[in-house]
Amino acid sequence: MTILVETIEETRRRIASVRAGGRIVGFVPTMGALHAGHSALMERCRAESDFVVASIFVNPTQFAPGEDLDRYPRTLELDLDRCRNVGVDLVFYPSIPEIYPNGSDSTLVETPGLTRILEGAARPGHFRGVATVVLKLFNIVQPDIAYFGQKDFQQLTVIRRMTTDLLLPIEIRPHPTVREPDGLALSSRNRYLSARERSTAPILHRALTRARDAVVAGLANGDRVRQILRETLESGTGVVVDYAEVVDDRTLEPLTELTGRRAIALVAARLGSTRLLDNLYLSE
Ligand code: PAF
Repeated sequence: MTILVETIEETRRRIASVRAGGRIVGFVPTMGALHAGHSALMERCRAESDFVVASIFVNPTQFAPGEDLDRYPRTLELDLDRCRNVGVDLVFYPSIPEIYPNGSDSTLVETPGLTRILEGAARPGHFRGVATVVLKLFNIVQPDIAYFGQKDFQQLTVIRRMTTDLLLPIEIRPHPTVREPDGLALSSRNRYLSARERSTAPILHRALTRARDAVVAGLANGDRVRQILRETLESGTGVVVDYAEVVDDRTLEPLTELTGRRAIALVAARLGSTRLLDNLYLSE
């Protein structure tokens, strides 16, 4: 049975009794608008822990200036169906004042260095908001394991860093990106694509696989890989490239030479008013 809990107090009480029985608590934080990618995270959490907690909270502090919190899709009933189908034990669904008791005067969490580049440059304050809310949720749920999709690779990196730096006893388990059959990474933003944009959108994945194939075939020059990414993306009608980068997977530092490095390619592009992200490891 899936129970819906709105308060911190009840969530803590229920999870404390689970923990007292020595059971492993797994956690999947979300902002709702759940899709098959979230189901994959929750299914994995179900398989690897004894008690599965998911949170649904549209976090206001991670919306950058100009991004519209009110326009974010809210689909609670469908989300709960998805949680029930996967066998989530507890859905934490707090209000904004529950999570931010001091309103906009909240203590904030910064992971400097990782947040002013790539997505952070395009969305000032976004990762500060993500790190802050994830720390709050971790403090409430106190999971043994927490799951994050690799699709939002910079977010995953920020959360790993915060967990290490703040000495949190939580294991972060990344989960591979779930894709449509044509390669498009699942995202709650895909619903905003027009039919024409939707047919162009797999070009992000095509650019990444071309770059990966070139690296597997021996290309080790980061600039040349960036060029392959950008040229492929720009060949798509109406695609506006935001960035096409090749970085170290821990520090997100841009790489010029790929030999001996764990390199990942990250791309962001706009199709009409929808901004899509994707990434792919270039080496094992
Ligand atoms: O990836 C998301 O859905 C959100 O950024 C997260 C991690 C739930 C924090 O609000």
